[in-house]
Amino acid sequence: SATAPEIHRGLAGVVVDTTEISTVIQETNSLTYRGYPVQDLAARRSFEEVAHLLWFGELPDEGQLRDFQARERALRPLDRTTLELLARLPETCHPMDVLRTAVSFFGAEDPTEDDGSPAANRAKSLTLLAKLPTVVAAEQRRRRGLAPIPPDPGLGYAENFFHMCFGNVPDPDVVRCFEISLTLYAEHSFNASTFTARVVTSTLSDLYSAVTAAVGALKGPLHGGANEAVMHMLLEIGDPRRAEAWLDEALAAKRKIMGFGHRVYKHGDSRVPIMQDALDRLVARAADPEVTRLATLHAALRHAMANRKGIHPNLDYPAGLAYHLMGFDIPVFTPIFVMSRITGWTAHITEQLAHNALIRPLASYDGRDQRAVPGAA
Ligand code: SDX
Repeated sequence: SATAPEIHRGLAGVVVDTTEISTVIQETNSLTYRGYPVQDLAARRSFEEVAHLLWFGELPDEGQLRDFQARERALRPLDRTTLELLARLPETCHPMDVLRTAVSFFGAEDPTEDDGSPAANRAKSLTLLAKLPTVVAAEQRRRRGLAPIPPDPGLGYAENFFHMCFGNVPDPDVVRCFEISLTLYAEHSFNASTFTARVVTSTLSDLYSAVTAAVGALKGPLHGGANEAVMHMLLEIGDPRRAEAWLDEALAAKRKIMGFGHRVYKHGDSRVPIMQDALDRLVARAADPEVTRLATLHAALRHAMANRKGIHPNLDYPAGLAYHLMGFDIPVFTPIFVMSRITGWTAHITEQLAHNALIRPLASYDGRDQRAVPGAA
């Protein structure tokens, strides 16, 4: 009999392909986009510059940035048909469902949907980058019974999103913290949603189909949905003094503690210190006892988890609380992740097409032995 094949459940440890887009340097536990350390990009560059870097391989010079911004800003508005379609979705559905539907609808509307040329895909990527925040903001407002606010072409990507959600732009340090989160969320190699986009692309399907599928993959709580789950969990615990007892009960019940652990990082997520720093700044400037209590609870749970399990937070842990403090409703946290990761997904779609191989692994069969259909000879 043949030797049993080695099974790699969850593709753990399997190297599927090469990529030039990003990597985690194990020795220094630092993440680089196109070779640049992400902490330096977060500190010194706008999210638009990071998007340009991921797509084109280089940071834009002044002229390229001006051009990129002008095109992004012009593409932000949604047409009437799209707004009407989105308004017809049940108000009880999750904003990730709205976003998934919106991406699919943009594909159906685009006459070049099936043109997979690099130039056409670049145009589609920019369209999605520009329009997704408009969808998310309209959804944030719809949940509060408010009409959408049109985009303001005079504002940067991050500022405009606040404007469309709340009708005003907060202090520059709040916008900065938000922009840092966008830069940190933008790209992370072969994570589940990016891999999903690559699987769909590998069949030579179109970019909108790949992104629609990626939105679906990101929604799950083991992946992008965790930033929302973190906030639900913190509100469930409620009191910093309850953190340890709550954790012990949750672990005894074999619950997964949201915002902790990572397939790739076993000694801590390289992005967490940067985001935690931004979160600490938000907490300090709030100077509000309720915010301080949440931050104390957040830290208490982190320490308890390190003591009990030796498991560290991932990016969703500080980002979840940061988005709450910025005033966003919990159900738009994962859609905000999409607004950022659209850059990484589409960079990977382009890369997949540049040296495509159909993604089609094997399975080891352990079902019933061959048997006769009743009545068959
Ligand atoms: C993201 O891949 C990416 O790069 C993803 C991402 C990106 O930028 O794209 O970084 C974004 O998805 C972050 C992850 C968000 N998910 C969560 O926060 C959900 C909670 N975390 C986990 O369920 C878990 O840690 C995963 C899903 C993130 C990773 O799962 P793995 O690699 O399959 O590891 P595992 O579940 O097999 O855990 C190994 C051990 C287990 O214990 P044993 O069975 O060996 O005794 O660690 C334990 C797990 O039970 N463990 C946890 C835990 N995470 C790991 N126990 C409790 N709570 C946790 N969060």
